[in-house]
Amino acid sequence: MCKATLITNIIFYLYTFIWIGVPILYLIMFRLYKSNRKSYLNALKYALIMFIVLFIPKLFGYIFYDSCYNCTINHICEKETKDKDNESEFVISEEKNEPTTKKTENISSTTTTTISTTTKKSDNVVYNGVSSKGYKIETINGVTYVDGMIIVNKTYPVPQDYVPTNTYKTPTSATKVCNDCINLEAYNAWQEMKADAQAVGLNLWIQSGYRPYKLQESLYNGYVKRDGKEAADKYSARAGYSEHQTALCFDINNPSKSFNGTVEAKWINDNAYKYGFIIRYPQGKEDETGYMYESWHVRYVGKELALTLYNDGDWITLESYLGITSKYAN
Ligand code: DAL
Ligand code: ZN
Repeated sequence: MCKATLITNIIFYLYTFIWIGVPILYLIMFRLYKSNRKSYLNALKYALIMFIVLFIPKLFGYIFYDSCYNCTINHICEKETKDKDNESEFVISEEKNEPTTKKTENISSTTTTTISTTTKKSDNVVYNGVSSKGYKIETINGVTYVDGMIIVNKTYPVPQDYVPTNTYKTPTSATKVCNDCINLEAYNAWQEMKADAQAVGLNLWIQSGYRPYKLQESLYNGYVKRDGKEAADKYSARAGYSEHQTALCFDINNPSKSFNGTVEAKWINDNAYKYGFIIRYPQGKEDETGYMYESWHVRYVGKELALTLYNDGDWITLESYLGITSKYAN
């Protein structure tokens, strides 16, 4: 994560000075020493070219969003804030979209962390009955909540234009993955988990976090082209059906079969629940989740539910726990 430091500040101000200052200085010098109007117009042209060329590195940062690069070149850095316990954490932005009514919330056992279902007057709330296990199913603006928890699987898609709010970083591109655009509560839990893994010598990182609809579409289409639809459906979600669009899950280190059985995968399997994460697609539960085993894909559900689903290592799937299906309609 990148926050502003003396070095990033120096580079940023130096760069900005060169970007804006050099063309202006060039023009001033020209004005002072050459009064010819035609050559001055030429100089203006060169100054504009300089300005545009020097803007390219900034543009590059905006398009291929990278936290450290942007902090240095565009001065978009994490802000330091203090939480209730005075421990510092870094938050770049939180969308202010205060709900008017609180409908349900899952509160974890040891902290005050919540993932709440909230509605505003303008929300379109549809009650869809209960699941086979008796949990309330409703859609709010096209997003399905079961027992107040967002569910995205092969049965329950999210709308194409659904973009999660309350994320650590706000998505800036509709076509690029954003590994830090993770639900704020999940992100804080992840920081803890990553630090504890580090303490036992394991290096964990988010390889793929929030994925917008368009990105999922191109990924899925690429897999279909490569492996065929039937095969792709076993490991990749169709656009609109990926949990990655919710920012509540992410892939750790290496999202491929070769990650299964590694010491990192084992540690994640045995410890993720302590931070409120579940292995979303456990081994041997393909019929329930609709997807092959993914040792790298974790979903945040809060500590209490994660502990229940961990089930002493024999993971219970969200589908089985909630009594819902995961099957495409076609
Ligand atoms: N790999 C998971 C299923 C996804 O594409 O969302
Ligand atoms: Zn994943």
